[in-house]
Amino acid sequence: ETQVSPLADQLSKLGLSTEAPVPQSLSNHNLSDALRNYITEELHKLSNVDKSIIFDSLDNTSTMDKGDLIIPIPRLRLKGINPKDKAAEWASLINKGQYLSQVVAEGPFIKFFFNKSVLFKTLIPTVLAKGDNYGNLPLGVGKKLVIEFSSPNIAKPFHAGHLRSTIIGGFLSNLYAKAGWDVVRTNYLGDWGKQFGILAVGFEKYGSEEQLEKDPIQHLFEVYVKVNNDIREEGEDAPNGTNDKAREYFKRMENGDERALSLWKRFRDFSIEKYIGTYARLNITYDVYSGESQVPKEKMKGATDIFAKKGLIHEDRGAKLIDLTKFNKKLGKCLVEKSDGTSLYLTRDVGEAIRRHEIYNFDKMIYVIASQQDLHVAQFFEILKQMGFDWAKNLEHVNFGMVQGMSTRKGTVVFLDNILEETKERMHEVMRKNKDKYAQIEDPEKIADLVGISAVMIQDMQSKRINNYEFKWDRMTSFEGDTGPYLQYAHSRLSSVQRKSGLDESTLSDADFDLLTEPCAENLIRMIVQYPDTIKKALKNHEPSTIVTYLFNLTHIVSQCYDILWVAGQKEDVAKARLALYASARKVLHNGMILLGLTPVDRM
Ligand code: ARG
Repeated sequence: ETQVSPLADQLSKLGLSTEAPVPQSLSNHNLSDALRNYITEELHKLSNVDKSIIFDSLDNTSTMDKGDLIIPIPRLRLKGINPKDKAAEWASLINKGQYLSQVVAEGPFIKFFFNKSVLFKTLIPTVLAKGDNYGNLPLGVGKKLVIEFSSPNIAKPFHAGHLRSTIIGGFLSNLYAKAGWDVVRTNYLGDWGKQFGILAVGFEKYGSEEQLEKDPIQHLFEVYVKVNNDIREEGEDAPNGTNDKAREYFKRMENGDERALSLWKRFRDFSIEKYIGTYARLNITYDVYSGESQVPKEKMKGATDIFAKKGLIHEDRGAKLIDLTKFNKKLGKCLVEKSDGTSLYLTRDVGEAIRRHEIYNFDKMIYVIASQQDLHVAQFFEILKQMGFDWAKNLEHVNFGMVQGMSTRKGTVVFLDNILEETKERMHEVMRKNKDKYAQIEDPEKIADLVGISAVMIQDMQSKRINNYEFKWDRMTSFEGDTGPYLQYAHSRLSSVQRKSGLDESTLSDADFDLLTEPCAENLIRMIVQYPDTIKKALKNHEPSTIVTYLFNLTHIVSQCYDILWVAGQKEDVAKARLALYASARKVLHNGMILLGLTPVDRM
């Protein structure tokens, strides 16, 4: 970003102070905050309420008829006043200056409407100057986030839970990066446990080197299915049977036997190589491929030792358990060491968290894991806390509900690739239905892939994380309704308006914005000003739907504008002002889509 903040530049032209009355204001990055500052100062003069309280009480509104900011008077914590009367009194007395167009009392609320001319003149040049950086907020500068997401299991199917973790985690890591955090993206592979003994034994029987190199994920899964069938036929306890051999093999891995480990390591390396390519299709790159195998034994042992010292361990048939009900009834008793001394999913998570803290000294660590594992996560968080790690309070679980009906035409989903390939095919079929349009697309395969991926991602992110949803191919690939393809269409249409105008984007900032007189233009700029606040909100609630909903609202207003705000065939100054507005809307839509992990297309 440039040294001088483009917004600060615009603010001083308007005579708006760039100095914030409260530390939480980001007025140089967020016009909403600059206007909050103005209202805060003016309302403080009238009420004498602490500025910080006023500032924090200025909420965003759910619909535009409620104003751009709204304040519930009871939030000001004043004793012995009638909130309705005060709202009416202050609304009539407040100095609107050139910054507010209307201030209206409604019951115990005051609604503030920003002056549209201030919005046009300040925001359009700011958005155009900031470009991809518009919406960035320096909230987390100097802080480190470790975020773990996706975390599939090698040789097992990639299920909907992994898909959601990938999508939500990809979004959250972008979001924190936008807010200036130093983000470490981590994939915690299920790459350890007895199933690797099974897989190794299976590979000796059914494996093919050639297949392993060609499609490791598919091949390992096939081997795994075959060998598990054998175990089922023989019986788990068959003397000297496959299961015995597998247990034996894994035991050798746990003991660090080089030969046993080398085969396992090849499975892992080949799989990671394949994962890297697939995640790239979703614009995700990991900083680290960790995994259950990477947890050092001593780290896990630390937990057992500390609990033993505290007298919280008891043994049951050679296995060790700890009782967490003392700290929280719901957490129950949990197994921390098996009778044969091998580690467990739970203790690995304890050890891995300690290891990550040693390496990264993070300020926050987020786990994006399905709500089916709520108990598991709560247990290892509590264990870390009881071990006396102060940083355990900086761990956060971002959970989510289930997906029903995610199956492809071929049946089983083995990996992300299968889902993405099928989405692309189906998207391609939808696109082919519109023959004229289809003929104009330069690279339909590529567009089908990008738009298809948007379909999957938007379907996943459009309602609250905790909700379950049904995977519906037809609905998600439709161009009508609030879908990924619709969002892509909205973006490409804005690009096309810009292309067809023949005007250069760099000349738009000095357009005459007084020519934007139509109400729909005002609605659009009032939507654009909300973008940084929307990002701030998403940082608090960790909900992708906050951004998705915002982008749909934005595109709906844009589409209303098309009927009225023509660019083609207008006088140059009018065309320029309108195009500047559209170009700003496109930029915000573009940034929002990138934030979600989509690749916006310019033609489709
Ligand atoms: N591999 C696990 C599974 O598929 C998810 C791992 C979640 N992360 C964790 N730290 N436990 O169920």
